[in-house]
Amino acid sequence: MSIKTAILNGVATIEIARPEKKNALTVAMYQAMADALDAAREDVAVRAVLITGQPGIFTSGNDIEDFMSRAPGQGSDALDSPVFRFMRALLDCDKPVVAAVTGAAIGIGTTMLLHCDFVYVSDEARLAMPFVGLGLVPEFGSSLVVPQLMGQRRAAEKLLLGDPFTPEQAVDCGIANAVLPPAEVVNHARRVAERFNQLPPGAVREAKRLLRGPQRELLTQVIRTEGEGFTRRLKSPEAMEAFQAFFQKRKPDFSKF
Ligand code: COA
Repeated sequence: MSIKTAILNGVATIEIARPEKKNALTVAMYQAMADALDAAREDVAVRAVLITGQPGIFTSGNDIEDFMSRAPGQGSDALDSPVFRFMRALLDCDKPVVAAVTGAAIGIGTTMLLHCDFVYVSDEARLAMPFVGLGLVPEFGSSLVVPQLMGQRRAAEKLLLGDPFTPEQAVDCGIANAVLPPAEVVNHARRVAERFNQLPPGAVREAKRLLRGPQRELLTQVIRTEGEGFTRRLKSPEAMEAFQAFFQKRKPDFSKF
């Protein structure tokens, strides 16, 4: 099983569990996470959601084999694909979402954190959004939210160069709340999620909507534009070279483009 779900003490936990592939996310896993988020939203006993990974790895991002063989189609097809369903469920989740980043968070692993309400990172984690190096473009609102959080200069390092960054830098630039020892990150995140058992759910829901509200429409537009570029570029020769290089365990060669 690659996604484990559980509900305990008012918290719906979504655990990414595919350690043999560094928790790379497949179409089926996005589907399972979208279903879990939708169920959490409907269940009145759930007051918050916790997303977590495995010791040493949160997720290595989208499964690159899936990128090559099962890329979302174009236009409205893409918007109905499991990855879009998952990210839409995350953006639409009206209950607090807490992330426990247990290790490396790459690609969509970092992108999804931008749309969680609380982010706690293990001090051994590394974050990265290496889309351009893979022949792709930023996704799911990161081209809007990342510059807002950290300014254009640092956003260019993360999104154009794809530079990895440390947990301390993630806190410094507003992506994460705090850095914790690896053995404590999940429990700390869970304790934060459980605090919502003591708070009035209606007020939490309305406050969350207000916090996210003003740019919601703009975000939807940006996500659509990014999605068009991303799905188009998935089939580009640049992306194919990057994906093949990953599996051949070599550096990509972009000199011919
Ligand atoms: N998609 C598909 N398979 C992946 C994967 C991904 N995103 N990330 C890792 N794997 C697979 C590897 O191919 C390898 O499989 P194998 O054992 O059959 O050869 C296995 O998981 C272990 O990965 P490996 O690279 O050997 O582990 P590592 O500890 O040396 O490095 C990472 C870990 C996460 C740094 C590295 O795997 C990585 O950079 N992954 C790709 C990240 C990425 O570019 N994601 C897409 C972002 S859009």
